[in-house]
Amino acid sequence: MQPFVFLIFGATGDLAKRKLFPALYNLYLDGHLNNEFAVIGIGRTEMEVSRFRMFVREAVSEFGRLPLQEGVEWERFAARFDYIAFDIMEADAYASLLAVVEERERKMQLTGNRMFYLAIAPQLFGTVSNHLKRSGLTNTTGWKRLVVEKPFGHDHASAEMLNEEIKRSFAEEEIYRIDHYLGKEMVQNIQVIRFANSMFEPLWNNRHIDNIQITASETVGVEDRASYYDRAGALLDMVQNHMLQMVMMVCMEPPSRLNTEAIRDEKVKVMRALRRYNEEEVDRHVVRGQYTEGKGRQGMVCAYREESNVNPASTTETFVAARLFIDNFRWADVPIYIRTGKRMPEKVTEIVIQFKALPKRLYFNKNDDLTPNLLIFRINPKEGITLLLNAKKQGADSQIVPVGMEYCNNCGDAPPEAYESLLHDAMLGDSTFFTRWDEVSLAWKFIDPIRRAWDKNPRSPEEYAAGTWGPAESYKMIINDGKRWWTGE
Ligand code: BG6
Repeated sequence: MQPFVFLIFGATGDLAKRKLFPALYNLYLDGHLNNEFAVIGIGRTEMEVSRFRMFVREAVSEFGRLPLQEGVEWERFAARFDYIAFDIMEADAYASLLAVVEERERKMQLTGNRMFYLAIAPQLFGTVSNHLKRSGLTNTTGWKRLVVEKPFGHDHASAEMLNEEIKRSFAEEEIYRIDHYLGKEMVQNIQVIRFANSMFEPLWNNRHIDNIQITASETVGVEDRASYYDRAGALLDMVQNHMLQMVMMVCMEPPSRLNTEAIRDEKVKVMRALRRYNEEEVDRHVVRGQYTEGKGRQGMVCAYREESNVNPASTTETFVAARLFIDNFRWADVPIYIRTGKRMPEKVTEIVIQFKALPKRLYFNKNDDLTPNLLIFRINPKEGITLLLNAKKQGADSQIVPVGMEYCNNCGDAPPEAYESLLHDAMLGDSTFFTRWDEVSLAWKFIDPIRRAWDKNPRSPEEYAAGTWGPAESYKMIINDGKRWWTGE
């Protein structure tokens, strides 16, 4: 890794505290940051550097995967952190930031590589990236990279505008758009399981796969994010990014080689082939739900509309289920069911590949409800793979039972967190697991008509009681196709 300065905008915010500082520290302890690097935190709140280092320390000890090492080790790490407070909307303030960066680079003999991380409200991305350019911060002898968080826009038009703005200061290959699901171990593992095992790829098509199901359920409600969430809803918060990214990973063709652009090219082809629904078709293929009062993990919880800072008449969806189709040769007529929501009974993210049943002969005609073969990618909180096969029950008279072959990816030491892996990649200049503009753009083109249809429709979302797997309509959708949800059942 080359030495670099890491500038974090929004350094006193939640993301920096929960994810970025702990990830940096873990990378440091694991020896991935052994070269010279400096971190400059930028925030609105005035504070001494010593106070900021204390903030980083608290973040690491509360949220770190690895325990904090007291003494010299910690001091050495903390000494790399600086802090500067200013109003990031003020163009003139960036001159002082440039001075601090240059001074750090001189003192630590760094070579001018700069990584800018925008852990701030997305509506500020454009302005900040303009100011970075105008102040000369991007005019460096080393490399420069911009890392931005989601959401990238709130529809296609706004995403395009934002992209145009950022592009004035950074080239596409210098922009790292985060989708933290792409940093998850088992999401990255999908392509390895698919392309490094001869037993799956020959079956990975509409001749052998009956349907695919992707569930990302959460037990939490809207928490303290109502001001964002009530505008976004589950469609923008989860489907436009994480869910579609998982669809791409499962459905892409094998890339010609394992390099960033070859992989992203194949992902984009999935998005091009993803059937777009017009506003009239939306109701048939997409279900939106909103939680009502119910029994959550910690007892009774209130309805979404009663959450603080949520409009009591809100029609924002906290649940989405949809039936998708990839209109290409490989996937013709294979439904891909996706489902995500808040206040569901379990926190679980998994992808189920359901293989087709065998002809109704031999065992299949004896027992019609024989479980189909399932390959399950467990993304979170369990990480691993389960392959469900049918086998003879021991001793019993030709009774057939499903048997699971399990691989657990997180039964030993805790694997790296998504942010560790993504930060590390960005530091190395590897953008494979970040989203390219055309992926984002096509995702919005799929989402926009759904949003428009819902916005025009005065009907409220379907209700589901907190602590359940979603509204009845999400069951009807799949049952009417002669199938069933596997996750959580
Ligand atoms: C975020 C969403 O992108 O992903 C949150 O904004 C959601 O609403 C979170 O809770 C889920 O991530 P994970 O890694 O916990 O599945």
